[in-house]
Amino acid sequence: MPFELSERSRAEIESLIARYPTKKSCLLLALRVVERQQGWVSLDGMALVAAMLGLSPAEVYGVVTFYPHYKREVHGKYRLMVCGTLTCALLGMKRLVRHIEERLGVACGGARTADGLFSLEKVECIAACGGAPAIQINDQYHENVTPQKLDDLIAACRREHAAGGGPPMPPGPVRDEPARVAHFLPALGLGRVAPVGV
Ligand code: FES
Repeated sequence: MPFELSERSRAEIESLIARYPTKKSCLLLALRVVERQQGWVSLDGMALVAAMLGLSPAEVYGVVTFYPHYKREVHGKYRLMVCGTLTCALLGMKRLVRHIEERLGVACGGARTADGLFSLEKVECIAACGGAPAIQINDQYHENVTPQKLDDLIAACRREHAAGGGPPMPPGPVRDEPARVAHFLPALGLGRVAPVGV
């Protein structure tokens, strides 16, 4: 089913529009509204924002794909972000990533586990270099990580989920399928640009 903006999201975007000299000025914040409602920013979400701001979908697509911090797919309920920058890399992060991949049965790169509980991705320095190797799970930092500590953290997440706690399970679908992106791009006037990494 195509994504629709809720009344609340629409009202939020309308109020943003009223606060800026041009509609285009609130594009980044309007995309955040979509992301909050949907859990990610889909092609449908981009098209709806474009319509509200009087922009072409191509402009919105260009902005979303320029900034890496917009979610273009749904992460797991527990989003594991492993730092791949120098200090953590030197202190064995590669080995730790392999450990998590084996434990969760999912490759590092953003994919979710089959049950939707976990996703694993590499990020740049999370500013916890003093406690390297460091990982972030949702909003929590964990420093001086070891394989044992990782096992404990994963088990704690599972326990929290089983007890009905933690953040809500993210919605599906997990991402725009390559075929949809390939169909969407020509409609944006982007010709035969190949979708990368989808
Ligand atoms: S290098 Fe990993 S937290 Fe800074």
